[in-house]
Amino acid sequence: MKITKICCIGAGYVGGPTMAVIAQKCPHIEVTVVDLNEQRIKDWNDPNTENIPIYEPGLSEIVAEARGRNLFFSTDVEKAIDEAQVIFISVNTPTKTFGKGKGMVADLKYIELCARQIAKVAKENKIVVEKSTLPVRTAEAIKSILDNTGNGVQFQILSNPEFLAEGTAVTDLLNPDRILIGGDTTPEGEDAISALVDVYANWVEKDKILTTNVWSSELSKLTANAFLAQRISSINAMSELCEKTGANVNEVAKAIGMDSRIGPKFLKASVGFGGSCFQKDILNLVYIAKSYGLNEVADYWEQVIIMNDHQKRRFSNKIVQTLYNTVADKKITFLGWAFKKDTNDTRESATIYVADDLINEQANISVYDPKVSQSKMLSDLDYLQTRSSEDNSKALTVFGDPYEACKGAHAISILTEWDEFATYDWQKIYDSMHKPAFLFDGRNILEAKELEAIGFVYKGIGS
Ligand code: UDX
Ligand code: ADP
Repeated sequence: MKITKICCIGAGYVGGPTMAVIAQKCPHIEVTVVDLNEQRIKDWNDPNTENIPIYEPGLSEIVAEARGRNLFFSTDVEKAIDEAQVIFISVNTPTKTFGKGKGMVADLKYIELCARQIAKVAKENKIVVEKSTLPVRTAEAIKSILDNTGNGVQFQILSNPEFLAEGTAVTDLLNPDRILIGGDTTPEGEDAISALVDVYANWVEKDKILTTNVWSSELSKLTANAFLAQRISSINAMSELCEKTGANVNEVAKAIGMDSRIGPKFLKASVGFGGSCFQKDILNLVYIAKSYGLNEVADYWEQVIIMNDHQKRRFSNKIVQTLYNTVADKKITFLGWAFKKDTNDTRESATIYVADDLINEQANISVYDPKVSQSKMLSDLDYLQTRSSEDNSKALTVFGDPYEACKGAHAISILTEWDEFATYDWQKIYDSMHKPAFLFDGRNILEAKELEAIGFVYKGIGS
């Protein structure tokens, strides 16, 4: 089968960039991205592509090139499903906040809704691709919904997990380490796999496109994220030991990273990992292991999360302790709110938890982030349900200028590794602050020696 029409349900951080790149690289394929969220689609269609709802370096240029040619954004979900041969499901799968598996397992209601909608609309055979990160065996659930519609339409379900990291989505999509496609081992399943392989082969070398059975593909995604997150929790665990012993975690990371078996990436100690994937995927893994009675396996991976929670709390505790055990009514400035640089995404950002802890200690938090809006920061805090929205808005002041944000602060805390922070006039910032001026670098991006020479009391992670 030759694919000429693709529909993607979900115009978020995964669906948006992925479809933009497919459309750019495959001008012969018409790609329609649909979403229930009308504002989101309106923003994707904004005549000025600088205003698209997701910030990723290089994305607005690609959208400018392909949009209206073979890339379309729409709220007409049914029409797009009806016309497409391949339907990608890229909807969100938040962790359940209620009922069985609360706080652990992914809420699949959006996925199920998609499956039901596809089942209702489809009049011809279709390939359905799971793109969202999903618990293992979701494909089976989707299949069972689709196969029981009774209208005789045949569906092939493929798992095609996304490995892009936010902030580098476009380069990751253009030059992926690998593409993974899982499907049934039946002849029909193999045909579907090969149709999707042909789409990616427009720009990805064939030997980087792996095909597996569905469950291997689903589990590989969870495993990859668990391994990556584990490296961060491992180095963060060492950062605490470094602080006690006088070692420097940056030096340790460099020394171990030069061992080619370990490698240098993902060894940056930080205030803790965030993002929509790591925690959710590990919790899914833990839940799956438990549901098979594999308690040791579950406990092993859960420790990665426990360490990460500890690292976030340890960071806020350190701020309080250093500021003479009280931050009440003190101005603490946060530089950065996003969970990493080069994205406006804040899901599970460590910053949210640090802010929450410090607001509990009655600090006044000022924030500057180059890409995150005030409303997003406030809704992140409200989501924790620690206090009323009104109290959150009183405790948090958002600035559009970093120097204003830092003026009169007792302490500054770097929470996101935005490159621009290293370029600031730190002398000027120091001069405008209360003394002693404290700087807590939760990302180890600034030069301790230079800041100490200015007069700052500098505290990085793990030194
Ligand atoms: C991750 C995976 O990398 C990606 O393959 C998958 O598709 C989705 O989940 P993402 O969450 O977008 O991507 O970003 P990533 O770069 O992995 O960073 C996750 C978190 O770890 C961030 O908060 C980041 O700041 C933190 N991190 C990363 C560290 O603290 N130290 C590091 O060395 C690397
Ligand atoms: P991700 O990071 O996985 O891309 P996002 O939350 O950024 O997650 O995007 C998921 C998108 O999916 C949201 O814009 C949401 O409105 C959309 N969505 C969820 N369920 C449906 C549905 N049944 N039909 C269409 N869009 C949906």
